[in-house]
Amino acid sequence: MRCVATSTLPPSIQARRTTIAMKLVMAVSGSLFVLFVIAHMYGNLKMFGGQAAYDDYAHHLRTLGEPIAPYSGVLWIIRVVLLGSVLAHIYSAFYLWSRAQGARTTKYRMKKAAAATISARFMRWGGVALLLFLIWHILQFTTRTINVNGSHDSPYDNYVAAFQPSVWWVFVIYALAMVALAMHIRHGVWSATQTLGWTGNVRARRRANTLAITLAAVVSIGFILPAVFVLFGVIK
Ligand code: HEM
Repeated sequence: MRCVATSTLPPSIQARRTTIAMKLVMAVSGSLFVLFVIAHMYGNLKMFGGQAAYDDYAHHLRTLGEPIAPYSGVLWIIRVVLLGSVLAHIYSAFYLWSRAQGARTTKYRMKKAAAATISARFMRWGGVALLLFLIWHILQFTTRTINVNGSHDSPYDNYVAAFQPSVWWVFVIYALAMVALAMHIRHGVWSATQTLGWTGNVRARRRANTLAITLAAVVSIGFILPAVFVLFGVIK
């Protein structure tokens, strides 16, 4: 029996396979990120529980898995997985974008295709905005390289200091980032369900759409709520 190696496949089939593989990489790395933001948003809601609750949570993140894992060990594993996901997500986005550019030799005639281009373009620029936000965010809260309103030992105090009315522009950055995040999750979750083949019929499509909208709303509102309460002096 003759065996056909993958490399001897016609280039068009090979390219199609790589495109499908890249879409899968995007869907899986994006899903990991969604899981992370849900957990992170839930953690941030502990700001409503007061200083001890929030600081305890931040401390537990670092002692997770002890004594089997060293201090901060599990947190570092999460960081490495997240970094890998971000890099894989960006790489596959570039690959799919350059392929789409190459394929686009004729002008679109259908309105539907034009609409798809607008949302794809938003995903690209929204993704770039979120990446810039993430870099800013880590420099502000994790490495504390950017120090907008004093640096404190208590994570709760750092949070409260960051969203004071005197530095209202920090809140504006976060609010805009949460709008970008909501739109990215809404479209990204919908695309991922398509890639994973969960949108085969009308009911499944409706369910996927509801899931995408719910996740986008819960994550973005859940994130910004404690910051709003700090800004208006309810959380001090
Ligand atoms: C209103 C929105 C957000 C607020 C107020 C917020 C707040 C915080 C705070 C206070 C920390 C430090 C926690 C600590 O000291 O233990 C932190 C860490 C972090 N946040 Fe956010 N966050 C927000 C949104 C996001 C989003 C959307 C992402 C991802 C896209 C994100 C990714 C991270 C990462 C990766 C860390 C570092 C975790 C670590 O390695 O220690 N955050 N955030």
